[in-house]
Amino acid sequence: MKEKLEQIKAEAVAQIQAADAPEKLNDVRVKFLGRKGELTAVLKGMKDVAPEDRPKVGQMVNDTRAAIEQLLDETKAKMEKAIREQKMKEEVIDVTLPSKKNIIGHRHPNTIAQEEVERIFVGMGYEVIEGPEVEYDEYNFEKLNIPADHPAKDEQDTFYINKDIVLRTQTSPVQARIMEQGNLPIRMISPGRVFRSDEVDATHSPSFHQIEGLVIDKNISFADLKGTLEVFAKELFGPETKTKFRPHHFPFTEPSAEVDVSCFKCGGKGCRFCKGSGWIEILGCGMVHPHVLEMCGIDPEVYGGFAFGVGLERIALLKYEIDDMRLLYENDIRFLKQF
Ligand code: DAH
Repeated sequence: MKEKLEQIKAEAVAQIQAADAPEKLNDVRVKFLGRKGELTAVLKGMKDVAPEDRPKVGQMVNDTRAAIEQLLDETKAKMEKAIREQKMKEEVIDVTLPSKKNIIGHRHPNTIAQEEVERIFVGMGYEVIEGPEVEYDEYNFEKLNIPADHPAKDEQDTFYINKDIVLRTQTSPVQARIMEQGNLPIRMISPGRVFRSDEVDATHSPSFHQIEGLVIDKNISFADLKGTLEVFAKELFGPETKTKFRPHHFPFTEPSAEVDVSCFKCGGKGCRFCKGSGWIEILGCGMVHPHVLEMCGIDPEVYGGFAFGVGLERIALLKYEIDDMRLLYENDIRFLKQF
């Protein structure tokens, strides 16, 4: 029995030493110590051992088991340590290597200006509503009090899709669309792209952007319009900004005005930026024409309101002191990344 145990131990030791991976050690453990292993078989043979020898043999079996177990554990620990060290060597991270840079883009100056205008009006309780760029002549002109023979129709060189459909020349048609829906009161702005068959130059482009504003409610006066646009100008160009309303004509508003802001470059003294006048024109506005209200199903005896239209590029050019509108459309990264 003793020789048998010694032989088992020697075999186990040999196999442990030959193992070159932790999984192989596991196989050895199963083979010698497992439930169907060789040592267990020896224990099962105890019934053939004389009763007085059993404690001694039992002790021997236990010693053998302990010896094999210990060797297995030690070898396993050594192997794992070696594997870890190897890994550490292979997976070194050189923290001094320069990192990969992701080139992150950013918003276009037009978008920045648009979001700034939206922020200001949303802060005053306005909704932002978009309308279609391909528009019916009816909304772009007729419902805004610009009938077929009206000279204003010639002023805005229009791209026609067919007799009745145009690329909108202004964002004002969104006014008519929203008023027609009849959910009063209305307080909205509508940013978007507009189109005019203009030649490209430093201040013109066949496609540009406007932001329309519209308020319809009871008891709205020109004072509300003035106050609103004053707040807008101060928010956009700084708290020192003054506004000036010059009488003007738009078919869809009566009275109408153009709004100038005091030059934020020279503070109104006159400089190259404001062409010496101290003022810069930024938008058109007025009280919504009663005829427009009627055409859109609103009773002008009960409701009234004001509207305005701002050129977005103009705002962006002014805010960022860009002197040529073409730069905004050329997608030259060197230019765009300055903003
Ligand atoms: N639609 C006008 C334009 O393109 C701008 C404008 C002026 C819009 C007065 C308005 C307004 O809503 O009331 O020149």
